[in-house]
Amino acid sequence: MKSTVAIVAHRGASQEAPENTLASIRLGWMQQAEAVEIDVHLTQDGEVVAIHDPTLLRTTGRDARVDALTLAEIKKLDAGVWKGAAFRGERVPTLAEVLATVPAGRRLYVELKAADGLVSSLRRVLAAGPVPLAQVVLISFEVEALREARQALPECPVLLLADTPEGTPSRQSGLVTICREAGFAGLGVSAGWPIDARLVERLRADGLELHVWTVNDARRARELAAAGVASITTDRPGWLRSRLASG
Ligand code: G3P
Ligand code: CA
Repeated sequence: MKSTVAIVAHRGASQEAPENTLASIRLGWMQQAEAVEIDVHLTQDGEVVAIHDPTLLRTTGRDARVDALTLAEIKKLDAGVWKGAAFRGERVPTLAEVLATVPAGRRLYVELKAADGLVSSLRRVLAAGPVPLAQVVLISFEVEALREARQALPECPVLLLADTPEGTPSRQSGLVTICREAGFAGLGVSAGWPIDARLVERLRADGLELHVWTVNDARRARELAAAGVASITTDRPGWLRSRLASG
């Protein structure tokens, strides 16, 4: 059976290109991912930038927090060369630059790495376009940040992230309650969760979608697709798509 699960490129096509850069994001689109996922932080001067860690050290070599430098200072750093000389010159992109790459009809998953003021800055950038808000999926481990986002950006679907230790039945029902009360669209869970078709159906009965991250194993991806999950986030979108298509 042909798989219909959506493929989400994790930090872009981040196995082949430096995560959370325009190079990896464009590669994700080229590899026909239905969506790209990015992580966002605020700079010192209140700009929203795509980067995973709260510090710049791992991906740019500069030992400083993202929120301690201005956008102009961050733009001087090289965010690509750590991945290989071919990516020298890649920069930490702004959310606005990322939005400008999104092809018609595709979705951007934006992970809020919580920070004071992030939601209002996010709203300012997203409201300026060009991506319809219904195609911007807001995700986070931080319930309070998501509640705030749900209020500020009601058109955007919201997913609550949960890690493997959350996968017990009692924790699951607690998370379902949070999602239903807050009006979230569903859960985004670690691939280590005990996921099967019954769980997907149970959540669906509660009006919730189940999304899964980060899966770079074709066998696990096939199991998840067969269980009916809404999306699979992967570092290898093109490769995983071809493995799912070949059954
Ligand atoms: O899609 C969710 C996933 O990205 C969360 O983990 O550490 O890669 O941000 P992390
Ligand atoms: Ca992420």
